Amino acid sequence: MRKIFLWLPLLCLPMANQKCIFDDIQPWVRAVSPPPNQPTSPQHTGDNQTRNTNPKAPQRTDRDASQNHQRIIRQITARTQTQSNSSGLLPIRIRTWIPQESFAVSHVERKRLELATSKAVKIVSDILSVDRIPGRMLLSRDINKFCKFIWKNATVTNYNKCARANEHYRMENCLDVTIPDDHLSGCSVYLHPNSPTMLVLRSEGRGLPDTDFVLYLHTRSTDKCHAEPGVLAYAAHCQTDRRGRPLAGVVVICRSAFHGESYSHSRMVQTIMHELFHVLGFSKELFDMWKDCSHSSRIGEDCVSHGQVTNIDGTGQVRIYTPSVIRAMQKHLGSSEEELGGPLENLAANEPSSHWEARVLQGSIMAAALDRPELVRVDPLTLAALQDTGWYYVNQSAAQRMEWGEGQGSLFGSLATCHDISSTFFCAGSGLGCHYLHFHKGVCQSDQYLEGCRVYKPLTNESECSKERNNKVNKAEEWSGEIYSPESRCFFSNLSRERGL
Ligand SMILES: *[C@@H]1O[C@H](CO)[C@@H](O)[C@H](O)[C@H]1NC(C)=O
Ligand SMILES: *[C@@H]1O[C@H](CO)[C@@H](O)[C@H](O)[C@H]1NC(C)=O
Ligand SMILES: *[C@@H]1O[C@H](CO)[C@@H](O)[C@H](O)[C@H]1NC(C)=O
Ligand SMILES: *[C@@H]1O[C@H](CO)[C@@H](O)[C@H](O)[C@H]1NC(C)=O
Ligand SMILES: [Zn+2]
Repeated sequence: MRKIFLWLPLLCLPMANQKCIFDDIQPWVRAVSPPPNQPTSPQHTGDNQTRNTNPKAPQRTDRDASQNHQRIIRQITARTQTQSNSSGLLPIRIRTWIPQESFAVSHVERKRLELATSKAVKIVSDILSVDRIPGRMLLSRDINKFCKFIWKNATVTNYNKCARANEHYRMENCLDVTIPDDHLSGCSVYLHPNSPTMLVLRSEGRGLPDTDFVLYLHTRSTDKCHAEPGVLAYAAHCQTDRRGRPLAGVVVICRSAFHGESYSHSRMVQTIMHELFHVLGFSKELFDMWKDCSHSSRIGEDCVSHGQVTNIDGTGQVRIYTPSVIRAMQKHLGSSEEELGGPLENLAANEPSSHWEARVLQGSIMAAALDRPELVRVDPLTLAALQDTGWYYVNQSAAQRMEWGEGQGSLFGSLATCHDISSTFFCAGSGLGCHYLHFHKGVCQSDQYLEGCRVYKPLTNESECSKERNNKVNKAEEWSGEIYSPESRCFFSNLSRERGL
């Protein structure tokens, strides 16, 4: 059944979108990576000795021979143990850890949180595979925190190790979550430059079994939650491995987001997924650590740096220029333009951000303002970007179709073209119309991310064409012949019902 309508304006403002303030948070978090010369999980690497032949070069290369050797062993064990995908990598195991401080939520709220998190984690780990961490994962302690002086003479045995403890050292944290000692490697002080004699400051934790990423999930009611309306959550990664892959991160869920009657499970799942994609790699703080693995036989091996990943195009739009992203953009917009990078939101002029440009990629899970869940897509562009991190094998067929801008050409969504309303995606004025997916009645609007371009956004109330109960509330428009039903869609026209029909 089609729904046909012409609507007279009521004062209906679209529901405020939820906003992500990731880029206000991550720059303040210093991510810790394993110290040079020491394996990430000492219990399992076998060789506790210095692996760098040249101690002057901190270990940042991916070609380290002994590492490769290790990975080959891992690969074989992995293959024999579990069925693996074509790349030899296995689905990422994301372990969620809810800190004690978060427990002050009601039973109902906690259940909501757990359900939404496990759903989001399941979706993400069905999409991303990694070179799994064998044994138990141990996070690193920040030597700049627990240590006052570090041996800096490259010729000494204890080069880069701690020479004197910082007596004020208490703990490691991930944003405002205290990382349990059990998740952390130990730390020691080497009193003499060339002697192995050491003083253990903290002993080794037990580590986390079967874990490739630990997500500290914190529920708070922080100032940041209240600073702006619509903030549901924020996040930061706080540890990476040697290749730059994030190992730990925190997602803070603002408490207001999951109590009350208006709670939406799917919205919470979407929010957690969005924050997870940030902490797993879609972050401007990580762009320059992405690796090009297109010439390697296995993800993570023989990868080279992409160099600088973002650049500004001729129109002032910051874009990500990596191979999968460019291919996905060309496919999406139906363009063969070679320099078609993935456009990033640039509210702060010429600064990259950790979100896609809303004008071009409206409805993406990685847009800065998330729409209602049924209008948001885990789109091919986002998955292409995660592929280009070089840390994951990404199941591209898990991407959802993104209708916004499909086949519209390379100039779609630019400030120069969005005012041409012959396209079905943009509008002018502030009249009523239909959201581009035709499931909702909408009103033509702009927002801070659209930079003056206007689109039909769903009305706050009774916008869904599929909800039969909306039939009642719109009695006033009976003359239009509108019918709300599960099969109804929104179309804008001047047709009206004839008397008596
Ligand atoms: C939406 O509906 C609610 C409840 O029916 C009402 O209180 C609210 O004022 C409506 N909002 C708008 C913008 O019409
Ligand atoms: C480093 O240590 C060596 C001997 O262990 C010494 O000869 C050299 O002068 C030291 N270098 C610096 C910069 O202190
Ligand atoms: C990739 O995702 C699709 C759709 O979600 C799924 O059917 C398929 O089994 C997945 N493939 C692999 C190798 O995980
Ligand atoms: C409806 O009719 C008016 C005047 O006849 C016209 O200006 C307008 O463009 C029409 N709208 C649509 C959606 O056809
Ligand atoms: Zn975000």
